[in-house]
Amino acid sequence: MSAETRIRRVTVPQIAARKGGEPIVVLTSYTVQLAALADRHSDVLLVGDSLGMVAHGMETTIPVTLEHMILHGQAVVRGSKRALVVVDLPFGSYEESPQTAYRNAARVMKETGCGAVKLEGGARMADTIRFLTERGIPVMAHIGLTPQSSHVMGGFRTQGRDRSTWGAHLEDARAVTEAGAFSVVVEGVVEPLAAQITEAIAIPTIGIGASARCDGQVLVLEDMLGLSPRVPRFVKRYAELGEIVDGAVSEYARDVRARSFPSEKHTYPIED
Ligand code: KIV
Repeated sequence: MSAETRIRRVTVPQIAARKGGEPIVVLTSYTVQLAALADRHSDVLLVGDSLGMVAHGMETTIPVTLEHMILHGQAVVRGSKRALVVVDLPFGSYEESPQTAYRNAARVMKETGCGAVKLEGGARMADTIRFLTERGIPVMAHIGLTPQSSHVMGGFRTQGRDRSTWGAHLEDARAVTEAGAFSVVVEGVVEPLAAQITEAIAIPTIGIGASARCDGQVLVLEDMLGLSPRVPRFVKRYAELGEIVDGAVSEYARDVRARSFPSEKHTYPIED
């Protein structure tokens, strides 16, 4: 393939430059087939650690390992051509020290071929974000509702309902920006706080359950496709694939039980 016809992936600087511009389309992706479909319409594919719950039936993201993230990250990079692929660093793989974070993030980038990593935490993770970005690892930050801290937060709670907490969230947003993050996921915060954060910082905010007043949006793909049994209130279901799959599987089961395959198409002919 010539250099002219090769499809170039969206780059980290291109996403950073979209601040205040055309909204950034982000979807989670965990498998090769869905990555290929989502890639055609997305700027960023996020291999989120929500895969622990969505693809592996875990209760929370806490049990997700680096090996899970690498395996799914490899599938998404193989399935996509265009979008920037960002892989989540799972709980326990980066919080201990900047050095641990660097070792694990470098492994994720080497073994998956992704373009950036995401990690949760604001001001408390600023030193780590700086350590990674200064050494060639682009970081998407994640503030507001941070599911890996759900035990500390007492569950998955909307953030910023109490105005007295807004200062801390704004401080988180400023700290990750100053540390060198190229964008930041803002999850589960009330609309006026999302708007203030978006206005206050120079990097794009990617909202989830944080209103349209961000520079981009991310949804869990299975949630918006109607494949997840329970979805958060803010999720628009763009399709009901669960019902379609159920219909197809039940028709298949009926055919098998009735021995009713159209036989000429479902057997191999004898050759001689
Ligand atoms: O793990 C994930 O899917 C995420 C998104 C919900 C932002 O972090």
